[in-house]
Amino acid sequence: MEKKELLYEGKAKKVFTTEDPDVLIVSYKDDATAFNGLKKGTIVGKGAINNRMTNYIFKKLEAKGVPTHLIEELNDRETAVKKVEIVPLEVIIRNFSAGSFAKKMGMEEGVKFSRPTLEFSYKNDDLGDPFINKYYALALELATEEEIDAITRYAFQVNEVMQEYFASLNIELIDFKIEFGRYHGQIVLADEVSPDTCRLWDKDTHEKLDKDRFRRDLGNVEDAYQEVFRRLGIDG
Ligand code: TMP
Ligand code: ASP
Repeated sequence: MEKKELLYEGKAKKVFTTEDPDVLIVSYKDDATAFNGLKKGTIVGKGAINNRMTNYIFKKLEAKGVPTHLIEELNDRETAVKKVEIVPLEVIIRNFSAGSFAKKMGMEEGVKFSRPTLEFSYKNDDLGDPFINKYYALALELATEEEIDAITRYAFQVNEVMQEYFASLNIELIDFKIEFGRYHGQIVLADEVSPDTCRLWDKDTHEKLDKDRFRRDLGNVEDAYQEVFRRLGIDG
């Protein structure tokens, strides 16, 4: 599989076309941004970790019945994926209070919920990804009701699988953001699942092993990504 043309460059990834109109190649960068691109930096080795971690978890999710865009990992940083039309919704699931939830609700971080929450943001950088609900999404025609229902079902299923899996690595899955796409009329999980898009805390020490170390200038950013990767045991 060969890259043809650069189709799109985002904050953390580049996307290339291939000979096959149904296949794209995603290339993960070490670039990191936060606060809608206001803060910029580099997390050395992040691209390879996020690529390999996403593929590893997407395979587990596929095995549990969640369809994904994954076709094949090509190398450390690059993966062939199905060309989907991204549904412009950021789907956020939370198991514990943290981040914008904690701020908005005037709560400390790390309080466990009796059941997970789900929220949507409209994926639109110019508007700063505003918080919306299902009815806004329908009114804005971002997706059909059937699609939103499928996305909601899959999102909670992703949470179940990931929560259990990370627990086996002594990691608490605090919250995460996922995105979905349409592929020949079907909703499939797309984008990535990585320390960029999840809050991952060590279960015993509550040490943050995710991008909050970069967002909040906590130091040891690369170490945190490496630690998650090490616990995944992908290299055997
Ligand atoms: P939040 O608490 O800032 O709303 O973030 C919730 C989760 O979503 C957290 O795991 C980080 C992730 N996230 C992204 O992946 N991309 C983003 O642009 C933002 C704001 C959050
Ligand atoms: N990726 C987002 C950005 O650059 C925000 C974040 O992950 O905090 O702005």
